[in-house]
Amino acid sequence: MKIVMLGAPGAGKGTQARLISEKFGIPQISTGDIFRANIRENTELGQRAKSYMDKGLLVPDQVTCDLVVDRIKRDDCANGYILDGFPRTIPQAHALTKALEDQGSKIDYAIDVEVPDEDIVTRMSGRRVCSKCGATFHIKYKKPAAEGICDSCGSALILREDDHPETVQKRLDVYHSQTQPLIDYYHDLGVLHSVDGTKEMDQVFADICSALE
Ligand code: AP5
Ligand code: MG
Repeated sequence: MKIVMLGAPGAGKGTQARLISEKFGIPQISTGDIFRANIRENTELGQRAKSYMDKGLLVPDQVTCDLVVDRIKRDDCANGYILDGFPRTIPQAHALTKALEDQGSKIDYAIDVEVPDEDIVTRMSGRRVCSKCGATFHIKYKKPAAEGICDSCGSALILREDDHPETVQKRLDVYHSQTQPLIDYYHDLGVLHSVDGTKEMDQVFADICSALE
């Protein structure tokens, strides 16, 4: 089962991708998480990606496509995967379709998590992420057991660099101009399923599971 998660920044793609990954035993591949891990490790890719991410801009298509096309060839992807944050531009979607065609395969489901812009800025200002393992929490909707501490690894929780309101607004602009057209792209391929991302997390997940059946 090969799934693409679509939706605005902060719509809950990562939250839902993680739940799908646990339920179906397929890996969650988040380009944002891969870039952030590279930034933490100060790799060349991390340094390159950071210069775009901090401004709310997209990392160039070529860099991102090479990374994903390489990643989905690994053994753990044999039974499928969830792409979280990729593709985000029409050229990336074409590159993915082409890479899958070369393997005699295709995307089975594109899940669009719909959340209006007005909800996004408030949601993002309450998000906290682990400075070490990248696990995601929310000060109101997904509280950690101890304030400011990651449930998974015990490290400090921080506000993501790109979650400051000005950068969130820029990311939303980029989303509408470059990523939203993918909704039509996957609709035309006959694999699009839209869910209401303003519902509670568990309900959003139940709606996604119904779409996957
Ligand atoms: P990325 O990390 O992918 O960021 P994003 O798409 O902006 O999405 P987010 O991770 O911010 O949000 P999400 O939808 O995963 O929401 P979450 O589940 O955390 O990318 C970051 C940057 O990397 C990009 O700006 C770009 O520069 C670069 N990049 C990445 N991929 C790229 C690509 N393909 N091409 C080029 N550049 C790329 O939820 C948000 C918050 O809300 C959390 O606190 C969560 O707990 C809470 N929440 C979730 N669901 C609910 C709910 N139902 N109700 C209430 N709260 C909820
Ligand atoms: Mg995410």
